Amino acid sequence: MPVAPYISELMSSSSFIRKMFEEGMQLKARFGADKVFDFSIGNPDLEPPRKVKDMLRELATTEKPSLHAYMPNAGYPETRAAMATKVSREQGVTVEGTHVIMGVGAAGALNSVFKAILSPGDEVLVSAPYFVEYTQYVRNHGGILKTVPTKADFSLDVEGLEKALTVKTAAILINSPNNPTGKIYSQADIRNLAGALDRFRATSGKTVMIVADEPYREIVYDNRAVSPIFPFWADSVICTSFAKNLSLPGERIGYTAVNPAASDAALLVDAIIYATRVLGFVNAPATFQRIVAECWDEPVDYSSYEVRRNCLTENLTSAGIEYAEPEGAFYLFCKVPAKKGADAAADDAAFCDHLKKYRILGVPGRGFGKPGWFRLAYCVSLESIKGSKSAFAQAMSEWN
Ligand SMILES: Cc1ncc(COP(=O)(O)O)c(C=O)c1O
Repeated sequence: MPVAPYISELMSSSSFIRKMFEEGMQLKARFGADKVFDFSIGNPDLEPPRKVKDMLRELATTEKPSLHAYMPNAGYPETRAAMATKVSREQGVTVEGTHVIMGVGAAGALNSVFKAILSPGDEVLVSAPYFVEYTQYVRNHGGILKTVPTKADFSLDVEGLEKALTVKTAAILINSPNNPTGKIYSQADIRNLAGALDRFRATSGKTVMIVADEPYREIVYDNRAVSPIFPFWADSVICTSFAKNLSLPGERIGYTAVNPAASDAALLVDAIIYATRVLGFVNAPATFQRIVAECWDEPVDYSSYEVRRNCLTENLTSAGIEYAEPEGAFYLFCKVPAKKGADAAADDAAFCDHLKKYRILGVPGRGFGKPGWFRLAYCVSLESIKGSKSAFAQAMSEWN
């Protein structure tokens, strides 16, 4: 058989989101896009800022030579410098362009980091629920993703994470605002996590890296702020992209920033650059490196996500479905309702199948390491969300 058996197995067990996305496309072709309530995928529907499109037009017509040539594997120096300005502002620590490695989306950036830091059998801890692809991103490089449940309110369980540390732990992966819960981890929890890692280092001699995956950093509600990481733990990196904040997921542009205070920071930067090359990314896309260097700070109005969150939560409340109020990102994590007359939450895959009958597409929580829940991505039109109200109500009245 040409496909490795373990890849076949992973393909069938790990692609809930993509499967739903593809089913959504089929349903839309059959019934019409406005008749399908597709909450399956985090594909932002805001248009990228005007300046992005203007620059793209300009770059397409310029006669400047070598615009499409290879460049240093870490990216253009001016783009790295622009990202360093952004990271310095977010982290409150001075970061130079030499600490930044441009990557192929946050996914590419995470893969380059794990390639650089993991030895076979190393463990990466993550709080569950978590973005499902992490399992593969770690496994791609010989590592093992180990999950620790969050607290009931989806905040970090720092004590639980501390207990899960072993001499095999190479990193803790954190994602705030979180996909799928929309939770923002508090600064106190980040500080406490750093304290736990410090205690662990004192007793084991082992330094654990914090890898912060932050593609939703800018999308927050009620003026909340996302805590920096660098001031609290030196051995840390930020991986992120412009997929969500500038609505450029298809352009595959992101970066990793290495904390300048990390042990052997220069070696770590070199290893991530090397990994970017040998993983076959070679470098992040040239045109979009030029664009984000100029557009990273363009103002974007995310308030429509908040309006949509409020509309969807109203629909769910009136249908009798419980959810965790998102503090950021554009996902609503909802509890699978118990069937009539039963106490416990029902099967999440069965409930998502049931919703499909009403042309509502959501993703079962087991795909995020949290069975009994399901995720709705509300980066879809307000009309669609409004239209889903009666579909949710009907689905609930027939859930028995
Ligand atoms: C938490 C999280 N990390 C990483 C990614 C991948 O982002 P990118 O498209 O920039 O690779 C996603 C995409 O949805 C995500 O939700």
